[in-house]
Amino acid sequence: MDGMKEEQENAIEYYNKISGIYDFISNWYYKNSREYAIDKLDLNKGQTVLNVPCGTGVNFKYFQRYLENSGLIIGIDLSNGMLNQAKLKKEKNGWTNIDLELENATKVNQNWFKEFSERKKQIKIDAIFCDLGLSGLPEWHNIIDNMISILSPNGKIVIL
Ligand SMILES: C[S@@+](CC[C@H](N)C(=O)[O-])C[C@H]1O[C@@H](n2cnc3c(N)ncnc32)[C@H](O)[C@@H]1O
Repeated sequence: MDGMKEEQENAIEYYNKISGIYDFISNWYYKNSREYAIDKLDLNKGQTVLNVPCGTGVNFKYFQRYLENSGLIIGIDLSNGMLNQAKLKKEKNGWTNIDLELENATKVNQNWFKEFSERKKQIKIDAIFCDLGLSGLPEWHNIIDNMISILSPNGKIVIL
């Protein structure tokens, strides 16, 4: 098997396994950094924010401080286990502005956005938050270029 592919599969298997306890570690350790970084997105009610990778949706409560369940939060991750935890948060909190997509970050480009826009009737992305994920991917520079290419003019991208 190709080394990079194997590494990626091992990473996803790992996140599937730890998804149930991920929040316990992540919540307290990165709380201040998340609040600071998300504040820099300058989110307003009704806007759309793309979170890659979204993991268990730890950031959602911080986005909601600005969006108040309006607009749209698009959460992308490649681990089903992590996304299931995000789905539980969405249901538990009654958040109706969250769309979760099982997708590889390397595939989030203009083609992806075209297909997504047609499927969801969603035509703009006001902000992008990439946290604690890209540095582990060898194609991180391409991923950032692709993200910028789908961001609205004057949109904000924050990388943590
Ligand atoms: C350290 S966690 C961070 C999750 C979230 N950003 C947070 O701050 O809590 C890394 C995440 O990257 C996801 N991931 C790894 N490779 C990925 C890829 N190629 N595409 C999308 N997500 C990926 C994992 O499933 C995991 O949820």
